[in-house]
Amino acid sequence: MHCVPLPMIGTDVAWRAAARRLIGARVKPADVLWDFDNQSPQLFESTVELPEPRRPMKVSKEFVALANTAVWHSDPQRFARLYALLWRLRKEPGLMQDRADPELAKLRQMEKNVRRCQHKMKAFVRFRDLRSDGPRRSFGAWFEPTHNTVEPTAQFFMRRFADMDWMIVTPDVTAQFKDGKIAFHEGREKPELPEDGAEALWGTYFCNIFNPARVKISAMTSEMPKKYWKNMPETQFIPGLIADAEKKVQEMREAAPTLPPERMAHIRKQLTAQAQPASWNMLEAEIAGFSEPGFSDRAVMGSGPRDANLMIVGEQPGDQEDLAGLPFVGPAGQVFRAAAGRVGLDADSAYLTNAVKHFKFQQRGKRRIHQNPSVREIDHCAWWLRTEVALVKPRLIVAMGASATRALTGSGTNLLKRRSTVETGVDDVPVFITVHPSHLLRLPDSERASAEAKFAADLQNIAEMSNSAVS
Ligand code: URA
Repeated sequence: MHCVPLPMIGTDVAWRAAARRLIGARVKPADVLWDFDNQSPQLFESTVELPEPRRPMKVSKEFVALANTAVWHSDPQRFARLYALLWRLRKEPGLMQDRADPELAKLRQMEKNVRRCQHKMKAFVRFRDLRSDGPRRSFGAWFEPTHNTVEPTAQFFMRRFADMDWMIVTPDVTAQFKDGKIAFHEGREKPELPEDGAEALWGTYFCNIFNPARVKISAMTSEMPKKYWKNMPETQFIPGLIADAEKKVQEMREAAPTLPPERMAHIRKQLTAQAQPASWNMLEAEIAGFSEPGFSDRAVMGSGPRDANLMIVGEQPGDQEDLAGLPFVGPAGQVFRAAAGRVGLDADSAYLTNAVKHFKFQQRGKRRIHQNPSVREIDHCAWWLRTEVALVKPRLIVAMGASATRALTGSGTNLLKRRSTVETGVDDVPVFITVHPSHLLRLPDSERASAEAKFAADLQNIAEMSNSAVS
C-alpha cells in the first residue's frame, strides 16, 4: 500500500507529481491511499515512499484540464477518483469523450462545482481598506469558499488588483499579494477588519440598482447563495428592499413614464414617419442614412416595376450586388433567375428586394466574406421592407430564406417545416415561404438535383399563384 500525503497548499502540483510516479510504476488505484492535509494520520502505517516510474504515461489534455480543476474540490474522494480515471485511460483511450461513463460524469460535476465556486469567489469577495502608509494601498478580505478555490482563483485577483497589496483570508488558506508577489499561507480565523467608508457608498449603489419590479427571490438566492451573505455588506439591505418592492412598483406605475432622450427622439421620428403617407423619396433617404459597423455604406434598393403583383424578397445584397447596386445579380441571383426561367416565372416582372438593404461582410485579405444579419438587424430593417410593401402593394410576396421570412412574418422559426406554405404576413399580404437560392449553392453534388427540383416546384407554384392573382 502506498500512502501519499498531499498538502493544503500546492495540492495540485503534489497530486500531479505523485500520480505521474504511481502510474509510471503501474500502481493500481486500490493500492494507493491519499492523505490530504494530514487528515488521516493512521494511514502512515503504510509506506510513504513512492515507487520509481518505469513507463511514463502520456496523458491527454482533457484529463489534465479536468484534474487541474477537480483537484480543488472538497470531496475527500477526489484524488482517488482522479487516479482511478487515469488508470482506466491506459486501456480506454476514448474514455474522456464518453459522456455516459458515471465516474467521468461525477468528476465533471466536481469540475463544474469548483468553477462555480471560483465564480462566486470572484463576485463575492469584499475587500476592506487596511489604510497602509506605504506607496501601495492595502486591502483585506475574509471569505468562506465551499471548495479549495483560493489558489486557483488568486490569478484573477492578481490581474485585477495588480497595483495594490491585498490579502484574502479563508479558514483553510490565506492568499497574500505584496509588492506584486503572491504567497499562500495557512488559513486563519476571521480577522478583525477595519470599518470601511466605501461600504456605505457601495450599499447606496446596491439599493439604487435594485429593481423592485424584477424581484425573483429564488433566482436571487441561487445566484447569491445565503451562506455568502454574512460577509457581504450590501446584503443587509436585501430584506428591506424585498419588503418594500411592491410599494415601489406601485409608485413606478403611478409615475409618468420617461425615456432616455436619444431613444425618445428615435421613437418620435418613427411615429411621425409612420403617421405620414410613405413615399419612395422618404424611404430611399431613410435607407441611405443607415450606417453600421460591419455593413457596406452603399444601399441596394429593390428593383423592378414598383406596381408589381409579385414581390420577391431575399436576405441581403451580396458582394456583387453591392458593387452593381442591384439585387440578385451575383451567384445566388443567377441560380434564382435560371430556376425561375425554367418554370416560366418572369423575374423581370416581379419587384425584387431584400430584407436588409446593405451588404454585411467581414474583410479577409482582398475578399469580403458574407455575414448573416442578426435578428436585431433584420428587425431594425423590417420597417423599411414593410414600407416597400405598402408602396408596391403586391398581391403575393415570396420570402426566400429565414431572414426574409422573419422580416415578413415576424417569426424566424423552422423554415423547412414552413417551406412551400403560404402564411399571412405582418401586413396581411400572403407570403409564400421557400428556401434561399444560396442554399442550393452550398449543397454537395449528390443532394443538389433533388433540392433544385424542389425549389423549381416552389417557383412553379408561385408562378401559378401570381398568374391567378392577376386574372
Ligand atoms: N442574396 C440575396 O438574398 N439577395 C441578393 O440580392 C443577392 C443574394
